[in-house]
Amino acid sequence: MIKFKNVYKKYKLDKSILTAVNDVNFEVDDGEIYGIIGYSGAGKSTLVRILDGLEAPTSGSIEINGKDISKLSNKSLREQRKKIGMIFQHFNLLWSRTIIENVELPLEISGISKAERRKQAEEFIKLVG
Ligand SMILES: Nc1ncnc2c1ncn2[C@@H]1O[C@H](COP(=O)(O)OP(=O)(O)OP(=O)(O)O)[C@@H](O)[C@H]1O
Ligand SMILES: [Mg+2]
Repeated sequence: MIKFKNVYKKYKLDKSILTAVNDVNFEVDDGEIYGIIGYSGAGKSTLVRILDGLEAPTSGSIEINGKDISKLSNKSLREQRKKIGMIFQHFNLLWSRTIIENVELPLEISGISKAERRKQAEEFIKLVG
């Protein structure tokens, strides 16, 4: 279960404060599918980045299966992220790598052998055509 409780994200600008996420509360039970809709700049991407721990909330708590992800150590957060699939709004590809090498990157960081990661990456590429 995912639980957002009184989540705020405020950015300090030069002369003002921008509230990107304003007191967000919701729960997603196991197996439920949620969509977040809103106009451009409403804070959707910020909300999702907070869920993945890429941004810390200014206040509030985010629980995933009872664990407050804003309180995890960096190491635990990296482990947690392996269980969260995220497609970025911008692709964030490494230009120095080919497509298949980009797909292989997370497997490489996870210490999977060269032969095995090539095999898996080829399967993923086939899957999406
Ligand atoms: N790092 C940052 N510093 C300052 N302001 C930011 C930062 N990131 C996002 N914002 C601001 O927070 C607000 C929400 O941005 P966000 O990218 O979450 O919106 P969005 O709903 O994903 O928009 P879009 O539909 O265009 O993708 C915007 O006003 C944006 O300019
Ligand atoms: Mg966005």
